[in-house]
Amino acid sequence: MAKIQAIRGMNDVLPAQAPAWQYLEKTMRELLSAYAYQEIRFPVLEQTQLFKRSIGEVTDIVEKEMYTFEDRNGDSLSMRPEGTACCVRAAEQHGLLYNQTQKLWYMGPMYRHERPQKGRYRQFHQMGVEAFGMAGVDIEAELLMLSKELWEKLGIADVITLEINNLGTSEDRVRYGEALRGFLTEHREALDEDSRRRLDKNVLRILDSKVPSTQDILKGAPKLADYISPESAAGFSDLLAILDASGIAYVLNPSLVRGLDYYNGMVFEWTTDKLGAQSAVCSGGRYDGLSKQLGGTDTPGVGFALGMERMILLLEELGRLPADINRQVDVYIAVIGEGVRQQALLLAAELRQGLPGLRILTHCGGGKYNSQLKKAFASGARCALVLEGSEAQSELKFRVLNDEGATTTLALDAVQEQLLAFFD
Ligand code: HAM
Repeated sequence: MAKIQAIRGMNDVLPAQAPAWQYLEKTMRELLSAYAYQEIRFPVLEQTQLFKRSIGEVTDIVEKEMYTFEDRNGDSLSMRPEGTACCVRAAEQHGLLYNQTQKLWYMGPMYRHERPQKGRYRQFHQMGVEAFGMAGVDIEAELLMLSKELWEKLGIADVITLEINNLGTSEDRVRYGEALRGFLTEHREALDEDSRRRLDKNVLRILDSKVPSTQDILKGAPKLADYISPESAAGFSDLLAILDASGIAYVLNPSLVRGLDYYNGMVFEWTTDKLGAQSAVCSGGRYDGLSKQLGGTDTPGVGFALGMERMILLLEELGRLPADINRQVDVYIAVIGEGVRQQALLLAAELRQGLPGLRILTHCGGGKYNSQLKKAFASGARCALVLEGSEAQSELKFRVLNDEGATTTLALDAVQEQLLAFFD
């Protein structure tokens, strides 16, 4: 029989890779906690309508990439392709957006049926941050400072660049959309098929077209920057002033429009040239109309999401993961002889209680001293306790797991003291 394999574009995280994930998750959790953001968790499945109404019907994600199916009741459900829509839905549903501000974060798998390649998967993980109820540029600046601090903590600030743009208000975008439609209608015949379809339904998406002939036409098109209202432009320059003052460098990128329709105002991407084509490691922006668009309160929102696989690739390829994260065991208890099995388990339990924080691996399954010692070395433990003998008469030895292999005999009641001294 053929072996069953994982689904293309969906990866297992093996034990050897797990420490890198744990390190990234821990670093992010600690930083978010330092900024007083709170965690929120929501389901992987949502009504398809949620994503159509937020990300937009005429976007690549909704048109081509969602895992959508009918459940047994005939309801159309989709695996979440991103977290912002879910976060707004959950916060709105539970009254978190009514007359209050919220600083939230989430972490988990997202699903998009894209063509898999390095850094692009069909199941991938995001760490997302969303701030609600705050309209000013201060929260925008704080989110950028938070992300910059994360790159510093991870030791990758030197390879990540901030690209930023202002999409203007929703009204600005409507006016710009009309101008763009007017211009592109004159070139309708020369546009690619996808763009012709988008001309009536969602003209701004044509700016994302990868077709060279369409990109050529767009060179002569009206520019979004010329349709931004003075208030929106003033807000954006306030934001840039805070970035300057905080020493956050940025590149203004007028063609950064993002692939999701809910954005207005500032949008950004942190990019790197170290990962080939999948250069965006973290992206986001403001989405003030979204909760209202989903039938809720009119609450300002701004946030970003970071691609965790891309972040780990970057850390691995640049060799910036801390060397000690792969050490998962501190003490290896070797058990020589069936007569001391029970004693070994009880000793381990006692040590875990007495010395919390120490990672203790008790050897199970028997075997000769030499083979157990080999496993002790392979585990990365720094010392071994060797328990040998019978129920009636056992002997305990302490062995440093280095080349010299100094061994001392220990009394049972001296073990904790010995370990404390050793790991001091
Ligand atoms: P997004 O740009 O679609 O935005 O995704 C955010 C990040 O997720 C990207 O910058 C990238 O690092 C990662 N990513 C996206 N697709 C894939 C994939 N197929 N494989 C691996 N990584 C991927 C959003 O999802 C918005 N919800 C961000 C946001 C939050 N805006 C406001 N709040």
